[in-house]
Amino acid sequence: MRMIENRVFRVALVGCGVISGKHLEAILAAGQKIVALCDPEPEKANKRALSQGLTDIPVFTDYEKMLDEVRPDIVHICTPHDLHAPMTITALDRGIHVLCEKPLAISEEQLQAILAAERKSSALLGVCHQNRYEPNMRKLKEMSETDCPVAGYANVVWKRDAAYYASAAWRGTKAHEGGGVLINQAIHTMDIMQWVFGMPEAVTARVSNDFHQGEIEVEDTAICTFEGKNGILWQFFATTAGSDDFPVQLNLSLASGKLIEAMNHQFTVDHRVLSGEDDTGSGKWVWGNGHKALIADFYQHVRENRPFWLNGAEGAKVIRMILAAYRSNGARVRIEE
Ligand SMILES: NC(=O)c1ccc[n+]([C@@H]2O[C@H](COP(=O)([O-])OP(=O)(O)OC[C@H]3O[C@@H](n4cnc5c(N)ncnc54)[C@H](O)[C@@H]3O)[C@@H](O)[C@H]2O)c1
Repeated sequence: MRMIENRVFRVALVGCGVISGKHLEAILAAGQKIVALCDPEPEKANKRALSQGLTDIPVFTDYEKMLDEVRPDIVHICTPHDLHAPMTITALDRGIHVLCEKPLAISEEQLQAILAAERKSSALLGVCHQNRYEPNMRKLKEMSETDCPVAGYANVVWKRDAAYYASAAWRGTKAHEGGGVLINQAIHTMDIMQWVFGMPEAVTARVSNDFHQGEIEVEDTAICTFEGKNGILWQFFATTAGSDDFPVQLNLSLASGKLIEAMNHQFTVDHRVLSGEDDTGSGKWVWGNGHKALIADFYQHVRENRPFWLNGAEGAKVIRMILAAYRSNGARVRIEE
């Protein structure tokens, strides 16, 4: 077993856009060394480095060249969705540990290729579903383990306007984003619902572009009914056509009869507030604050050479649910595990 004792990891990051700042912040907070950045627009990488007080960091425009010249221990992948699979595989094939932003992949073929590369590799793969580190989501999971959820629904109502979709060429495109609100914004919440209910057997979904016609070629709105293994139904509504960014709501009823409403900033049981917090953490509030905790935990697993729980198989679950919803077109579709 290869154990990287307490030595500082040499970490590289690819894709120096919006989310990369959260990763760099977390890598530095974990006391690790950033050894290279990569972006086809090097000025973005330079700007990101400076914003974290980093100077003299080598900047590459070619990902493979960066991996081969720098040989980092770990690479963080923060690029558009269609690049996650090829970039993850390229690093795993070289024995470099990967922390990949969501979504892990945008097709079943990409998933299969990643899972095969993960099996062959000596390196670990972690997928960035940071909401699983939110205290209220953990509380929800903990309760659901002793008091089984029997019904539920979740709402993700956010506002993404034409300026947002125009802010990067890959946004809103089938080829590069792979889908819309489900695979980009609502994926975290669907992942949490799957985590507490278990992997569903089937979905019936209506997925449409209702309010962003002419701006994007992917869905802005989705309504899904998921069927659990034991006949349990739960509903999922998501849209980027909200009039504002509303708090994500997960509502569950448990076998004991308790009603739970879980949001990142508040947790209620039978309408009584069990915990409420100001939403003043470091994260843009719709993302939650879990990046730091997830990244520190991933590094600890790499250090101890232990399998990481949010691995390829775990990241694949929500992708398979979303791909099934895309196939549904109003019909009941089975979800393959
Ligand atoms: N976990 C979360 O809460 C969260 C939040 C926001 C974004 N994300 C995810 O992070 C990823 C990036 O999103 P973003 O909002 O930062 O996008 P962005 O467009 O701001 O950044 C993407 C960056 O990748 C670069 N890039 C494109 N092609 C590249 C290539 N071939 N090699 C290297 N770099 C390349 C672009 O130049 C850009 O700087 C997406 O997968 C997104 O879904 C996750």
